[in-house]
Amino acid sequence: MSFWNLNNKNLGIDLGTTSILVVLESKGIVVNEPSIIAVERGTNKIIALGKEAKDMIGKTPEKIEALRPLMHGGIADLKATELLVKNVMNKLETTEHLGNPQIVINTHIGMTEVEKRVVLKVVSDAGAKDVYLIEEPIAAALGAGLDIYSTEGNMIVDLGGGTTETAIISLGKIVACDSLRVAGEDLDQNIIDFVRKKLNVEIGKNAAERVKIEIGYAKPIVNRKVNLKGRDVKTGLPKEITLDAFQVFDAIRDSLDKIVEMIRATLDRTPPELINYIYENGITITGGGTYIKGFDEYISQKLRIKVFVAENPLECVAIGISKIIKNKERMKQFKSKRRM
Ligand SMILES: Nc1ncnc2c1ncn2[C@@H]1O[C@H](COP(=O)(O)OP(=O)(O)OP(=O)(O)O)[C@@H](O)[C@H]1O
Ligand SMILES: [Mg+2]
Repeated sequence: MSFWNLNNKNLGIDLGTTSILVVLESKGIVVNEPSIIAVERGTNKIIALGKEAKDMIGKTPEKIEALRPLMHGGIADLKATELLVKNVMNKLETTEHLGNPQIVINTHIGMTEVEKRVVLKVVSDAGAKDVYLIEEPIAAALGAGLDIYSTEGNMIVDLGGGTTETAIISLGKIVACDSLRVAGEDLDQNIIDFVRKKLNVEIGKNAAERVKIEIGYAKPIVNRKVNLKGRDVKTGLPKEITLDAFQVFDAIRDSLDKIVEMIRATLDRTPPELINYIYENGITITGGGTYIKGFDEYISQKLRIKVFVAENPLECVAIGISKIIKNKERMKQFKSKRRM
């Protein structure tokens, strides 16, 4: 008998551009891996998944391809999405007995209806009995501990890897929202472009992400530095460089400003009945982008509103989903769809 048939459990998936997290009703977060899969070119045989596949980026031999299922919060590669979800589930099969689970999975605000149907189909095909789709900001708000059913309304901004999403939530529903295809991974690209343009050195994606994590500030700081290795664009030879946080701020500033302007645009479209409450209660931010040091203050100063960083910002969506799967009544409120 397949493990799906042993007993029925509820499972949640946060399918993100950068990471995939899986939560089990009884255990909390059981998978937290980069959303990357390395396959053999031509045969699609899986070579590595998650962290192991991420470490292969830029170093993979020609016959191995590192696939990314999502880009900017949208489905970029259907095959990769199927392979990633199926394989994450198969790995769980060895340790958990899921039966025919009901699965709650996030969708992004910027996804088209077709992309949402793809998510639904991929999860159904992986063996789910029922699939419930939840919009990411609602899950993020629940995970951040906001009362999504409040009549006053709450504003959540999820600063992810591929998209930044804003939502004003009142009475359990999104009343205004926006999605911008500028987020954490664009900051990495900004750093790559900056180093190439100003220092004539080519650096890889993983190196750029490390720079952002170590000295990514939303303010001009000079005394924090990081050394990294790249390739001299002119000579083609390896070269070691030092970057300081001031340069990194210079590199990422335009992207940070685009994010701030999107938050402003959502505030501008907030229904008049809620806007006073939103300004009184402030904005809660979640997602990996909250780790850009000083970004909360940056947003706060530019928009003249209080900004709170959620606890465990990288896990808020998964925590929100786990709250839903634990509460059968609440689960019913989210749009439930059957297998296609
Ligand atoms: N300590 C850190 N400092 C700066 N950035 C960080 C840090 N930790 C993670 N990040 C960044 O956060 C981003 C990932 O955030 P998150 O996990 O919320 O995205 P995601 O849910 O996978 O993507 P999305 O929701 O946009 O599809 C990545 O760009 C990553 O580099
Ligand atoms: Mg996310």
